[in-house]
Amino acid sequence: MPINLKDKIEHRLSENVQKALLSCSKTAEKYGFKIYLIGGVVRDLFLKKEIFDIDVTVEGDAVEFCHKLADEKLCKILQVQDKLKTAKVLFSENTEIDFASTRQEFYPKRGHLPVAVRIGCSLQEDVYRRDFTINSLAISLNKETFGDVIDYVGGVDDIKNKTLKVLHDNSFCEDPSRIIRGLKFAARFGFHRDKHTKELQEKYQNEQLHKDISWTRIKSEIKQAFSLNTGKIFDMFLANGEEKLFYAQKPEIKGLEIQTLLENHHVDFPWLVYLGCVLKDEEIIEAFCFTRAEKKVFSDRDTLLSENLSMLNSNYDIYKFFEKRAPEAVLIYYLLTKRKEALIYIEKLSKIRIELKGNDLKELGVTDGKEIGKMLDEILKKKLSGAIVNKKDEIAFVKTKTK
Ligand code: CTP
Repeated sequence: MPINLKDKIEHRLSENVQKALLSCSKTAEKYGFKIYLIGGVVRDLFLKKEIFDIDVTVEGDAVEFCHKLADEKLCKILQVQDKLKTAKVLFSENTEIDFASTRQEFYPKRGHLPVAVRIGCSLQEDVYRRDFTINSLAISLNKETFGDVIDYVGGVDDIKNKTLKVLHDNSFCEDPSRIIRGLKFAARFGFHRDKHTKELQEKYQNEQLHKDISWTRIKSEIKQAFSLNTGKIFDMFLANGEEKLFYAQKPEIKGLEIQTLLENHHVDFPWLVYLGCVLKDEEIIEAFCFTRAEKKVFSDRDTLLSENLSMLNSNYDIYKFFEKRAPEAVLIYYLLTKRKEALIYIEKLSKIRIELKGNDLKELGVTDGKEIGKMLDEILKKKLSGAIVNKKDEIAFVKTKTK
């Protein structure tokens, strides 16, 4: 007897999602389609974790199926991807569901994005293209078997045993982003890799086959993993030797150090602080296709690392040295070098603000644009040295200068 999760569907999915799934089930029955919940949603139903995305796979052509749903006035098709035959569909009350056609995949170049070879294959064939057994489970949405779990690969046992297992020996070569997906699932759910999966991963990392792989896929996974912002995940990353993926040396940094620094100092891209402690290879940085702001973190880090700090004689010098740099880059610089100047800037100097504005200075008699700039700089110097502290002090200082 297959495990049946109809109860879990009723308890764990919102009423709107349930309504949408029932409409799908009826439409599938009417037009002779076979449809299934697949991947993360099934895993998370077992694990009692929060469910964000609903993925449905159609054994056949998902776009054709979605058109039937639309003809029945049950949904609005938002997006169609004709090559892979996938569709994003909107049901009532803002309920979005992604539909995919079953497919087999073929990797024309190892580590690059796959091309679909056969759309509309059997569910069993579709399942074998996936990353881990825990993500290869399906739940029938078909009338006679609604809620039945379909497990071709032992995923249910692996969920019970908290085990991450790849489906075949080529898995990491075909898609190395699975290494980081494994890290993400290990951290999120407390799962561990089985012996063979660990060996395959280590083999891939030690051979470092080539750099010509899909780094944007890895970027997306590393962003999700490090955005969890737990030191544990960074320690695990290093313990697994995953820095080798980036052709990097292991840095002498503990995850908790990074986590604590980030908890005390807000930055826009916490995940980049973790990554920036490891990723140095210029070719890979280029291949990551970072946004302009993300790129600045790496270039600022490298500028800071190449500068000589011996000429920093005052708080003002330290302030000017770090001021224009991305805050993430300053944190990375500190983590890599442990220079006390960086910590002084992060903890103290970066928080010092001038309270007087240009208009205040005009009222105090400093009218020329150039003079205003100079005066602000002098106030800053005084504040950084500790000679003046608050707005009252700033006003008194300006007055001594304009007398
Ligand atoms: N998948 C895969 N290999 C990848 C990415 C995804 O085999 N590199 C498959 C897995 O079966 C996965 C499904 O595609 O369950 C959906 O992928 P995605 O939405 O990225 O992941 P989820 O498993 O849903 O995990 P998350 O909770 O992080 O979204």
